[in-house]
Amino acid sequence: MSIPLQLTVNGKAVKTTVDPRTLLVQLIREELQLTGTHVGCDTAQCGACTVHMNGKAVKSCSMLALQAQGASITTIEGLNGDANSSDTMHPMQIAFRECHGLQCGFCTTGMVMSAVKLLEDKPQATEAEIREGLEGNICRCTGYQNIVKSIQHCQAGQTATANIAA
Ligand code: FES
Ligand code: FES
Repeated sequence: MSIPLQLTVNGKAVKTTVDPRTLLVQLIREELQLTGTHVGCDTAQCGACTVHMNGKAVKSCSMLALQAQGASITTIEGLNGDANSSDTMHPMQIAFRECHGLQCGFCTTGMVMSAVKLLEDKPQATEAEIREGLEGNICRCTGYQNIVKSIQHCQAGQTATANIAA
């Protein structure tokens, strides 16, 4: 059985049909081919699959695609505000690059998506609040020091430029 689904992803209207059991992350990665969103645990523990839905950070492995009916989703590919261009980066992505906030990179999408939301909600977050805000995201490389440093770098507006070519 397939059920009609309409939503907006990175500013583009998506109209499709899905099996009711389809997870949001499956829709994003497999149907929409937006493979920047990763699956680490598939059980809502690691945060690698984090996307923004209606302005909130959500774990897309723990939601059905149908729960996003009518919603507006942003994935890492749309974070720079231009879904048609992949050659610019959001300041948070630049900060992660400048502060070596990633090692293997597997957790990075989720970290960046959570960090952007964290600073949107609390622009003056302290280091302790940043660490607490990232508790739903796990880095298997254990690079937490530089992840926090990257977020603070972005928070301080210290990235080299606001939006530079990748
Ligand atoms: Fe979704 Fe780990 S893959 S939380
Ligand atoms: Fe490897 Fe975080 S950089 S899992």
